[in-house]
Amino acid sequence: MSTLLGLFRGRGPRQDEESQETLRVGAEETVTVSFTVNGRPASVDVAPRVTLSDALRDHLGLTGTHVGCEHGVCGMCTVIVDGDAARACLLLACQMEGAEIMTVEGLGKPDDLHPLQESFSRHHALQCGFCTPGQLMSAYDLLDKEPGIAPEELPEQMSGVLCRCTGYRNIMDAVGEVAEKNPDGVPPPRNCASGALLPRDSIGGPSAGGSGTGDDEHRGVAEIRMPSTEPTVAVTVDQEVEATPDELWVVMSDTERLARCLPGAELVADFGDDTYKGRIRVALGPVKLAFLGDIHVVTRDEETRTIRALAQAADAGGGNVQADVRITVDPQGTGSAIHAEADLHMTGRIAQFGRSLANDVSKEMFGQFTAALDATARGEEAAEIKPTSALTLMAQMTANRARGAWDRLRGRN
Ligand code: FES
Ligand code: FES
Repeated sequence: MSTLLGLFRGRGPRQDEESQETLRVGAEETVTVSFTVNGRPASVDVAPRVTLSDALRDHLGLTGTHVGCEHGVCGMCTVIVDGDAARACLLLACQMEGAEIMTVEGLGKPDDLHPLQESFSRHHALQCGFCTPGQLMSAYDLLDKEPGIAPEELPEQMSGVLCRCTGYRNIMDAVGEVAEKNPDGVPPPRNCASGALLPRDSIGGPSAGGSGTGDDEHRGVAEIRMPSTEPTVAVTVDQEVEATPDELWVVMSDTERLARCLPGAELVADFGDDTYKGRIRVALGPVKLAFLGDIHVVTRDEETRTIRALAQAADAGGGNVQADVRITVDPQGTGSAIHAEADLHMTGRIAQFGRSLANDVSKEMFGQFTAALDATARGEEAAEIKPTSALTLMAQMTANRARGAWDRLRGRN
């Protein structure tokens, strides 16, 4: 098969350090590139043709960087690379070895917005929000280079990012206010703390292109570190069940039986100290994902009947999930109340489901989990608890949404 020149000049990750020769990489091969994003070390395993914008969105789950034209025209994908604004759609990820990248996620947090974000909100400088990450990063770069810029210069200086629905006047007003209030320079970003975005290859699942079978299942458990960023999805499920707390705790104390309550899940190895290798299969329409990864039960408190587990898993197609799951059982009437919470961090293919759909799927799965836990605790585990099929899952979610809409129409909510 012919090879493709990897275009690694400049920051060539695959340049031989001594000879400085550019390495050739096959079109179907991947290279590992390491850089920092928002102050956190990150690493991606990508084909040479993958753009920085795709690497940020699909490999690291940083979907705040939007993609419009993919030709360098619209400016939606603007990020800061080594201190300068850059079109992420025009850069290849493999050029980024050692680079310091800042994306809109690094600018601020929901509870600690950057002054530019606050100003955009105050001045109604967005409507659909599609151009907003690009506008914010472009404005940040502009005010970083030209603090206190005069308002009349803003239209030309901010013309590199196209907005199709908001009045530009509001965007200029928002940027102008921050420039006026901060004549000595733009305030620093609010979400560039230390920590680590978990690179795809550092987690316990299969490496890129791996099959997820064989040796991967017996490699031991990697250290599980949850990202410091907001979870992609936070799920809370409260369910009253017939089983007593004592009956439920018997199952919760047995990780293998507990895992079987989660549709499509199974334990494949027990490494002791409450650490395990596990697999879960999720199918949604034509998309079928098989995650293999590590589980560590960090809390198993019989007194409060609380269990907390951390998990990280990868799908052979490049999706990653990290989960922090807490389950508590309390007495409720003659039965129990199960309270389950999960913070899920998703990157790669699974993140493309979108937050709302991922939330629905996660909630549905947790609902099935608590029902199966109840059945198992009451001695019904002999009747196999089958994973709900994708079609059933979709049908249930559609029915739930339709029921909600119908109730709202009838004014019952
Ligand atoms: S998506 Fe990069 S400039 Fe349009
Ligand atoms: S706010 Fe909609 S494209 Fe700018």
